[in-house]
Amino acid sequence: MDRFLTADDLAKTLRRDVRDGLTADPKTLPPKWFYDERGSVLFEEITALEEYYPTRREREILTARAAEIAALTGARTLLELGAGSGEKTRLLLDALGGTLRSYVPVDVSGDFLSGAAAAIAADHPGITVRPVVADYEQHLHLLPTGDRRLVAFLGGTIGNMAPAERAGFLGGLRATMGEGDALLLGADLVKDPARLVRAYDDAAGVTAEFNRNVLHVVNRELAADFDPGAFEHVAAWNAAEEWIEMRLRSTRDQTVRIGGLDLAVEFAAGEETRTEISAKFRRERLEREMAAAGLALAEMWTDAAGDFSLCLARPA
Ligand SMILES: C[S@@+](CC[C@H](N)C(=O)[O-])C[C@H]1O[C@@H](n2cnc3c(N)ncnc32)[C@H](O)[C@@H]1O
Repeated sequence: MDRFLTADDLAKTLRRDVRDGLTADPKTLPPKWFYDERGSVLFEEITALEEYYPTRREREILTARAAEIAALTGARTLLELGAGSGEKTRLLLDALGGTLRSYVPVDVSGDFLSGAAAAIAADHPGITVRPVVADYEQHLHLLPTGDRRLVAFLGGTIGNMAPAERAGFLGGLRATMGEGDALLLGADLVKDPARLVRAYDDAAGVTAEFNRNVLHVVNRELAADFDPGAFEHVAAWNAAEEWIEMRLRSTRDQTVRIGGLDLAVEFAAGEETRTEISAKFRRERLEREMAAAGLALAEMWTDAAGDFSLCLARPA
């Protein structure tokens, strides 16, 4: 497994993110810290929840379009950013069998990635599987290049970036792409806010546990004394920005000590810390943001209900 993100880098970035985020007003924590091994397992549970439509819808599109994607791209390398379990990606690996030589899943969650990649390699003996532990916000330029690369970024994960971060990310990605390369982007679409909120606030409380997992990560990695039970999960639709926000609301006035940062953080009763945004898109915005990054939208497929989209883009 290649590692562009060492344990040392991870520790440094976590320290900076937690210090910056918890001393800001309002407080924030970035979503990449949900995903230790437990967080990755919880995310997999979320993808199976009745309320969480994105995974089902994206799988529906991939099932219908994988052969077309293979014919349109003739990809030799499939590079997947934020791959997670790569379960849906198996549909692409099967369809691309005629041309594909290697699969490069990229994720920050190293232990989970290594297990997922081994399972995929066992099922696809004809393909070289080369997992890479890296941060797609920092290491795009270090990832393998080559002729006819298909870069997949699935699950609507692009929505976790704010517009300025997305612009930087798409521009950075475009800079690494050659003429024969393509981007396959899964993007969730704007819809009834009540359905959106339910998708991020399931009845069984799995998403709440996933959200609070960031507190367990900070406790373990930075010797903090968060009481996760004293933080409530909140999912809210921000209509102006067209994104879902996940927050953790302090249930009481409390002081949390973060030993590893030599920092004490005060939380007022009711105070909310934002832990994730998940932007929802319309076609015009996707087209505009891609064009600004030098990418041309070639195809935009949706599921039958029009809930989710899969876009194929090429260097303009
Ligand atoms: C919402 S999940 C999507 C997983 C999978 N692609 C899917 O469609 O079900 C986001 C994935 O991206 C990974 N991730 C989050 N931030 C990342 C970053 N900055 N760099 C690399 N991977 C990241 C997480 O570990 C997680 O596996």
